[in-house]
Amino acid sequence: MKQGINQHQNLQVFDAHPAVADVKSEVLAGLAQPQKTLPAKFFYDQRGSRLFEAITQLPEYYLTRTEIGLLRQHGGEIAELVGQGSVLMEYGSGASIKIRLLLEALQPDCYVPMDISKEFLIASANKLLDDYPWLSIYAGCVDYSQPLELPKALAEAPHKLGFFPGSSMGNFTPAESQAFLRRARTTLGSGGRFLLGIDLAKDEAVLHAAYNDSQGVTASFNKNILRHLNRTLRASFSEELFEHQARVNHSQSRVEMHLVSKIDQMVHVAGTTIVLRKGESLHTENSYKYRIESLQWMARQAGFELEKSWVDDNGYFALVMLKAS
Ligand code: AVI
Repeated sequence: MKQGINQHQNLQVFDAHPAVADVKSEVLAGLAQPQKTLPAKFFYDQRGSRLFEAITQLPEYYLTRTEIGLLRQHGGEIAELVGQGSVLMEYGSGASIKIRLLLEALQPDCYVPMDISKEFLIASANKLLDDYPWLSIYAGCVDYSQPLELPKALAEAPHKLGFFPGSSMGNFTPAESQAFLRRARTTLGSGGRFLLGIDLAKDEAVLHAAYNDSQGVTASFNKNILRHLNRTLRASFSEELFEHQARVNHSQSRVEMHLVSKIDQMVHVAGTTIVLRKGESLHTENSYKYRIESLQWMARQAGFELEKSWVDDNGYFALVMLKAS
């Protein structure tokens, strides 16, 4: 594990050297399944991240706006619960307004953003330090979908608060979420807390609109995965031969995104030929919607108790505070 100082004096970085993913095998394995799938993480190249940012501003996409409202409204109460002298560990890079709200409310001793992209991590940390010169940042270049070894100073900090906003956990399968929570429990330790933003189960029409917006931004975001794969895996997808579909799957409590083939076609991906029938879909993403009770149950299995939750007036979104049990 390498450590160093970067630009601002109060920025340190630890690098756990996350393994480089075997993109080709992962994509081909998904395309070999009876329901063809593509890994959702391939949405997020530069263009995809910009499109996601645009999604968060859409009138139909209530998630981001609602979560920010909850943080504004309850930041003080969250800070009271957590108390002074905390180490705030964010699962993600800290580029959003949400972390700013939490930092202002909490004034932690140390802020630990964690992300797989070192460049992005350092750039966002420096931006934060321009605005919060009092802050001390210990940024971690890590893959938090894997077990995490913290530097000693952080491992020994007794008062850690994890933060995983945006209902990003909703993009994991339930088994992955369970494993993620267990790892977070180990990382955050016996005095730890975990603040999660989760999207709640709700009326189909609201969900449908949020993932089928009228301006077609979500459709472009979904199709961007094809562009990304064309570039990185010498694939031959034509965006115009696919239709964006978001389907509400009640039995699994999730919204699924698909790209449906408009014709019978053959596509080449990294030297392999994939046959797609007209109407056949590539399943690109799941976005699970929780009930507080199901989240509570999951958290309990992982060694957390639900300490408090805050829900907006529509009952759309929740901030959930978990405490190590
Ligand atoms: C990042 N994630 C929580 C978003 C979601 O709502 O599942 C990704 C997204 N997919 C379509 N729209 C937004």
